[in-house]
Parts: sequence; structure tokens; C-alpha cells
Amino acid sequence: MAKDLPPSGPRHVAVIMDGNGRWAQQRGKPRLFGHHAGAKRVREIVEACPEIGVKYLTIFAFSTENWKRTQTEVAGLMSLFRRYIQREAQDMLRRGVRVRFIGDRIKLDHKLVRLMDDLELLTAENDRVHLTIAINYGGRDEVTRATKRLAYDIEQGKLTHKDVDAETIGKYLDTHVLPDPDLVIRTSGEARISNFLLWQSAYAEYEFIDTLWPDFSDTEFKKIVGQYAGRDRRFGAVKA
Ligand code: FPP
Repeated sequence: MAKDLPPSGPRHVAVIMDGNGRWAQQRGKPRLFGHHAGAKRVREIVEACPEIGVKYLTIFAFSTENWKRTQTEVAGLMSLFRRYIQREAQDMLRRGVRVRFIGDRIKLDHKLVRLMDDLELLTAENDRVHLTIAINYGGRDEVTRATKRLAYDIEQGKLTHKDVDAETIGKYLDTHVLPDPDLVIRTSGEARISNFLLWQSAYAEYEFIDTLWPDFSDTEFKKIVGQYAGRDRRFGAVKA
């Protein structure tokens, strides 16, 4: 339970897992070696969540821009995702992890999409921690897809332009069942948000840390989450 945190700790933490390539390069290895090391870190961070009261964890695994990488790297990442799901599925089920995926599945390999769908279904009753993995995800792409569906529903007469407000838009996003992130962490020293959860992070706190993702430990994660609890979030209002 969340005994070592005051109740103001973040409920939803989102992470931009950056620095795998540099981590591998520093060791004279190919970039995929870094991605494999990065994948191993995911379990430790997921497991730390319930201990510190984080109910939702969302991780950025592959962006809509990542297709621009070499064919070898893209294919290697896709194969890593497939193997990761196959290897971890039963374990996630046992550990109470509910897994969801966000992003556009249309461009993904059918076999991968099937594994993603199956894992969502398999873990649908879990509630200990909600892990959302963003694959072929981009904030602008998500808002564009949502707007298209919304426009279509208006065309079909399901709602009118007068019904469109922030809450309605939220319902059309991939994240419609998730609360907004309270804290976004980016590893590896870059201070950019790179098209990640643009709409949802409007009031989030950001934490940019130098550690490369494959070196990011549960201890560091817990420390950052603990620091967040002391912050004063006002959502644009004046302090009472
Ligand atoms: C960014 O590092 C990382 C990625 C584009 C891939 C993220 C993937 C993982 C952490 C592993 C797989 C995750 C799961 C859920 C199985 P980078 O390559 O941009 O690093 P660099 O900035 O040092 O080049």
C-alpha cells in the first residue's frame, strides 16, 4: 500500500523511456542491445507502482515518428514487442497488471496486433496496476484520429457541434478510460515532450532526469514520485 507517501502522490505517471541507443553506444553495442536492456527495466518500474500508490503507469514504447529509424531498428523493436508480450503475458496476469495499448494499430503487423488484443483481454479483470503501452502513438495523430471520428459521428447525427466540449473530445481519445497523467518523467537528459500525451498532460508536472532508461531503477523512480508529492499543483487557480 501507499504507506510511504502522503495521499497527494501521483495517481498516474507517464514515462518517456529515452536513452537506450546512447546506453548501447557507450558499450560499443548496436542500438537494439539498448532496447533489450530497456525492456528489462519495465517490469521493475511496474512492480514499484503499487508500493507507492501509483495506480496508472503509461510508457512510450514507439512513436509515430520512430518509423523514420533504420529498417533494422524498426523491425528489431517490433520483434521485441512481440516477444515481450509472449514472454510476460502470464506473469502480468498473475501480478494483477491490467495492460492496455494506445496508438494507431493500423500500421502495425497483424501478428503483433493480435498479441496486443489478446493481452488486453487476458488482463481485463486485473486492477492492481494499470499499465498502458504506447505503440505507434503520437499526440497529434491521436487528436487527428479522434477529430475524424467525432466529425463522422456529427455527420451521422449522433451529436451536434453544440455537444463538443473538452469532455467530449476526451471521450474520443485513445486514453478515454484513463485519468490524465499527474506526472510525466523523461529519462536521458532531453527536455522535450516529443508528441506524448499532448492533450492529457495539460496540467501535469514534468520531471526531466539525466539517467538513461536502461539504468533507471525503481529506487530513482520512487524518489521522483516522492518529490512530486510535495509539489503544489493549482491547475491554474490561485492558492486558497
Ligand atoms: C528511446 O531511446 C526508446 C525507444 C524509441 C524505444 C523504447 C522501447 C523500450 C524501452 C523497450 C521496449 C518496451 C517494451 C514495453 C517492451 P532512443 O533509442 O531514442 O535512445 P537514444 O536517444 O539514446 O538514441
